Amino acid sequence: MTVQTPAPAGEDRAYLDFVLGLKQYFATTLYAKLHDQYDAAGSLNELPAYPLFEWLERNTQKMMWRRLEAMVRPHAPALEASLDALPLNPLGSLHLDPNLELPEYYTETEFHIQPGGVWSGAANTFVYEVGAKIVMLGQNDDYRFHRLFVETAIPPGDYGDILDLGCGFGKSTRPFVDAFPGARVVGIDLSAPNLKLAHHQAERLHKRIAFYQRKAEATGFPDAAFDLVTATMLIHELPMPVLRQVLQEALRVLRPGGLLAVLDFARTGDAFHDAVMDGHGPRNNEPYMAHLFKIDVPRLLTDVGFVAAEVLPFDERGGGLREDCTWPARSDWHFPWVVIRATKREAA
Ligand SMILES: C[S@@+](CC[C@H](N)C(=O)[O-])C[C@H]1O[C@@H](n2cnc3c(N)ncnc32)[C@H](O)[C@@H]1O
Repeated sequence: MTVQTPAPAGEDRAYLDFVLGLKQYFATTLYAKLHDQYDAAGSLNELPAYPLFEWLERNTQKMMWRRLEAMVRPHAPALEASLDALPLNPLGSLHLDPNLELPEYYTETEFHIQPGGVWSGAANTFVYEVGAKIVMLGQNDDYRFHRLFVETAIPPGDYGDILDLGCGFGKSTRPFVDAFPGARVVGIDLSAPNLKLAHHQAERLHKRIAFYQRKAEATGFPDAAFDLVTATMLIHELPMPVLRQVLQEALRVLRPGGLLAVLDFARTGDAFHDAVMDGHGPRNNEPYMAHLFKIDVPRLLTDVGFVAAEVLPFDERGGGLREDCTWPARSDWHFPWVVIRATKREAA
């Protein structure tokens, strides 16, 4: 059975184009205007147009998810059945754990304002897939962004075993199969629907990936089982004690000399951009983002036991990793992407 995410058409398309147009407006025209005003006033809260920016950011996101929900929901039973019909003769595998208890920090927040999160029903993973694509305003239609991470931020190496933490529906995992064709590639996530979709998509694209329903903070894999552990857009969704556990777990499952490579967000040092990003967390239901911005990430990695920890800006619309450590010059509102890398000490 083919698993096909419904694509917006007709009135849905028109509605979503309107919402995406509003997103474009606040991210470009309104943001640039605020920036000019901020340079004069020095505080976001004094700017008359900032409440409008905040309202548009939160409510366009809500509007987008609600419309996608309404679009996908009528197809939910058929989509669920298509997810449950496992691919024939798979290259990879799917290992769900019906007894896995989902942590409260995960179930109590509707991250990104997506109703029901990505885990509470089969339809949610399809809503997430189409939302994750269109929210990038046409900039990530072929998942170039995820490929760019692998192509520019992972140093050449002999990575025989690769683990992707919080793999979602596999768009962060698949580029590792292309880049390291001989490797065993494993993706883990908490969401069963995400993992089912990940498995179907990987098989359709002939990518050999083993997907497991496991926690990033307690993966259940043996010590020193991987050469590379990666996570894209996971760590800003974790409470601080869990982030520490996840890093400890990554260290445990890495072989000596193995690499941890994370793609996430950080402060840029640009007061205006950082102030807007501070507000983004609460506006977009990302309750743990603020903690990530407060801590010294290389120091945390060093405390946990990693060596050579570094944080480098990443330009998702340009050349990816910025080895020279500078931020791309952009006048629009955009995520401050960074690559966080650290190594497990070589055996003595
Ligand atoms: C923003 S999505 C990113 C998905 C994917 N890495 C990508 O780049 O498209 C975060 C993913 O992490 C998963 N997740 C969150 N907390 C987790 C945890 N403690 N252990 C494993 N997965 C987790 C979520 O279910 C979700 O699929």
